[in-house]
Amino acid sequence: MTTPNSMMIVNDAGHLVVGGCDVVELAAQFATPLYLYDETVIRRRCRDYVQAFAERYPSVEICYAGKAGLTTAIVRLMDQESMGLDVASAGELYTALQADFPPERIKLHGNYKSEQEMRMAIEAGVGRIVADSLPELDQLDALAGEMGATADILIRVRPGIDTHTHELIQTGQVDSKFGVGIYGGEAEQAVRRALELGNLRLHGLHCHIGSQLLELDSFERAVDLMIEFMADLHQQTGWECEDLDLGGGLGIRYTEHDEVPTVAEMARRLCPRLQQAVAAAGLPLPRLILEPGRSIVGEAGVTIYTVGVVKEIPDLRTYVSVDGGLSDNPRPALYDAVYEAVVANRADRPATEWVRVAGKHCETDTLIEEAHIQRVEAGDLLAVFATGAYNYAMASNYNRFTRPAVVLCGEGRAELIVRRETLEDIVSHDVIPEHLR
Ligand SMILES: Cc1ncc(COP(=O)(O)O)c(C=O)c1O
Repeated sequence: MTTPNSMMIVNDAGHLVVGGCDVVELAAQFATPLYLYDETVIRRRCRDYVQAFAERYPSVEICYAGKAGLTTAIVRLMDQESMGLDVASAGELYTALQADFPPERIKLHGNYKSEQEMRMAIEAGVGRIVADSLPELDQLDALAGEMGATADILIRVRPGIDTHTHELIQTGQVDSKFGVGIYGGEAEQAVRRALELGNLRLHGLHCHIGSQLLELDSFERAVDLMIEFMADLHQQTGWECEDLDLGGGLGIRYTEHDEVPTVAEMARRLCPRLQQAVAAAGLPLPRLILEPGRSIVGEAGVTIYTVGVVKEIPDLRTYVSVDGGLSDNPRPALYDAVYEAVVANRADRPATEWVRVAGKHCETDTLIEEAHIQRVEAGDLLAVFATGAYNYAMASNYNRFTRPAVVLCGEGRAELIVRRETLEDIVSHDVIPEHLR
């Protein structure tokens, strides 16, 4: 197993290299804070999934969950890798369509889809709309009818699985806002309703049990419960499930302490289990859909900061302040997320200091509580690893910070895929009403 630090490449100048590019040069060219993506790593992760599952299961679609990080360039990349795309808002859907992603490979999610979002999806002819509730089925049917269309849908169910992950990213348990519960009969009721409605075509079932999952047991339980449910439904209604979407959730290595199953292990554990369970229940084999987000882009991302003040509190600790924080990475504050970092311009030196990395927002804003890094001083560059998922995607303008640029690096080429926001951007949506002029 490699750790984020041991995976890193350092050049003769002692500088960290991402996608064949010298990070010190990138910081000079694009300024900091700066999000970097290693294109080769993203493509490799897509291929890992496609290959590992295609080798073990006859019909598979791997959809990238755009919520982990979506830009028009990333959409193009996913299209080139023959991935499907999971979107969860009008903005994500619009991004996909603007980048000419084939609509038939798009899935629309959401526990509350606005009418605008449903209309957009039906009009675009997305491959699947993942219905999340009984009222939504009626709404979708009415809209599709009004638009003279038929909506191709899956139904999201709550299998009732408690996963070992942060409570904010657990989604498949009984007590969750997502989907319809298998227990209590709501999911069966939803399937029956969907089959009755004339403007819906029900293709299958969906579940997503949680995120940053570091063990495969929960996925196995999801397979078992979903097949059991499919068998019950088949017996009760005769309906055959054509698509089984098991969502995303595979974790990544944020630090050397995270032990993560490989995608190949996941495929080895899930595919035979699914095939055996389906055969035992006498059901036709469904197409298998997966929606990984974090495990596609997470480890491909590195965020570069410039170090400002280094403040030593005697006998206590050293605070290293960097030029970003909560606004470009809210995950430590939200989920107690832990990261590893290096001093990018001195990456060939041994890590000798334990420091706390602080962002510059108007609250505690701790990026890394205990970072083991090289000697550090003002003006150095700090690279924080595994920041490709839910970082740019969750970035905000808190304190009216401008959101950083995103650069895609590969084979020594560095290309801007999102330009840095400007101060003009910050006020561009503000309006001063007449009485305040
Ligand atoms: C429905 C759905 N699919 C896929 C994902 C992607 O999960 P992950 O990034 O953990 O792979 C999520 C994440 O919340 C989700 O809600």
